[in-house]
Amino acid sequence: MRLRVVMMLAVMMTATWSAEAGDFEVDEDFMHEVEDTSKSLTNHLALNNKTASNDDVLRLIGMFSKVESYYTLKGDSDEQLGLAQKSHELTKEIKFLVDAGDFEHAGQKATVLARTCKSCHDL
Ligand code: HEC
Repeated sequence: MRLRVVMMLAVMMTATWSAEAGDFEVDEDFMHEVEDTSKSLTNHLALNNKTASNDDVLRLIGMFSKVESYYTLKGDSDEQLGLAQKSHELTKEIKFLVDAGDFEHAGQKATVLARTCKSCHDL
């Protein structure tokens, strides 16, 4: 009897913990932020604006890092997880190119990123 209570408590604590670990959600508001930042990045890359591009891409890296953890925790879609990882990688590559002042290639990567957004939405 007492063991069952202890076990129930343990289960409840685990449930609470995972709810907290998965606190972040990929929802509409978040995705609108992703969209705004991604558009802003495309504009700043076209203007060869290093400081502004760097700000945007750092924000995107943070966002896609969250998206990647979200789908890793969720664990129910390899396709979405794959595209989240791909987007995260692309944002890091864009950051590298911006640091190097290579706006042309950074812009090309940004186009690939935009296609990756579409692939995920088309799933
Ligand atoms: C790993 C998958 C994935 C990737 C990659 C992704 N999205 Fe999304 N996106 C979603 C999901 C899931 C929704 C639906 C969210 C909801 O409505 O709850 C969504 C919804 C949206 C919406 C619509 C929000 C609304 O009004 O309903 C926009 C805009 C958006 N994403 C922009 C982007 C942009 C821009 C990118 C790329 C820079 C991107 N997304 C990359 C999964 C993804």
